[in-house]
Amino acid sequence: MLGIETSCDETSAAVVSDADGVWATRSNIVASQVAIHREWGGVVPELASRQHIRDICGVVRSALETAKVDLASVDAIAVTQGPGLVGSLLVGVSFAKSLALSLNRPLVAVHHLAGHIESLFLQHGDLPLPLVALVVSGGHTSLYVVKEPGSYARVGRTRDDAAGEAYDKVAKLLGLGYPGGPIVDARAREGRDDAIALPFTRMTHADRNAPTAKGDLDFSFSGLKTAVLRHVRQRTDTGGTLTGTEVNDICASFQRVVVNALLARVFEAADRYGAQSVGIAGGVSANTRLRKDFADRAARLGLPAYVPALSLSTDNAAMIAAAGLRNFYAGKRAGMDLNADPSLQL
Ligand code: KG4
Ligand code: ZN
Repeated sequence: MLGIETSCDETSAAVVSDADGVWATRSNIVASQVAIHREWGGVVPELASRQHIRDICGVVRSALETAKVDLASVDAIAVTQGPGLVGSLLVGVSFAKSLALSLNRPLVAVHHLAGHIESLFLQHGDLPLPLVALVVSGGHTSLYVVKEPGSYARVGRTRDDAAGEAYDKVAKLLGLGYPGGPIVDARAREGRDDAIALPFTRMTHADRNAPTAKGDLDFSFSGLKTAVLRHVRQRTDTGGTLTGTEVNDICASFQRVVVNALLARVFEAADRYGAQSVGIAGGVSANTRLRKDFADRAARLGLPAYVPALSLSTDNAAMIAAAGLRNFYAGKRAGMDLNADPSLQL
């Protein structure tokens, strides 16, 4: 399976093979646009889609070369249909359609978040089900129950910012650079996590946009971000600047609240849905404290806990190829009328 991913600011192509049920990542090439968007402090959609166009041919060629396969031996093509930036998605979708048509191979559409969840299966093989999986990235914070392979039931989501977005915004207001997650993570390791009292948001009311859902496993990070902003303003309004130690303490305190908020819902859901395993995928799953606290809490409960390797946690096409294999075996095929869907639901 050749996978193609262009939903945001990474152009990626990968080859995943299936030998008698054992899935293997034969190549996973990622061209990151971080250097381009850093200058603007965030992803600029128009620049992203233009860069995808420049990179896609080389990235696909490189994925095939690394896997030592030629185009003729590709059996099927999987592509991210959504969600994401429409201009970015269109590059991958159009490229994959052209390839499928010219090679006369099946085309498979993939939901980006199904890809993140499948990164856990690609890395670890069959997992004990039901699995409670948290997908946490710059664009998403959603909780899923996987009762059988390929079925994903959403039981929680963020009402406002994604956790990674909160990391990026806090880093920006502290003047730490972009993307903020890895920098805040590193600074937090040097700070005291109880230095600043920050609010821990618990959802007690239903979502106005989804009033039938209970919503008590939902997340919210905008209040926390505002509390950090207020703290920084209080300290600097009279002309002072934050010391390095203060920045470290803010990062550590912020990170403690984010990690606790994420893990509280993961384990609450695990209990409620009788999970036999738990997993965390997506860019923020690279976070040091999240990984450690997750493993510790799961071990105390005797629950097997899974995270992807770092190369499979941020956006990549191997996870899209894996989700593509899942859809392919379920008989799902996309037609030549496949269109990018920036707000595709899962
Ligand atoms: O999955 P991903 O590559 O792209 C999206 O689909 O959004 O995730 C990127 C996000 C960014 O917000 C980045 O700041 C965050 O993941 N991130 C981290 C860490 N590494 C990346 N957040 C916290 N700690 C990290 N170590
Ligand atoms: Zn992602």
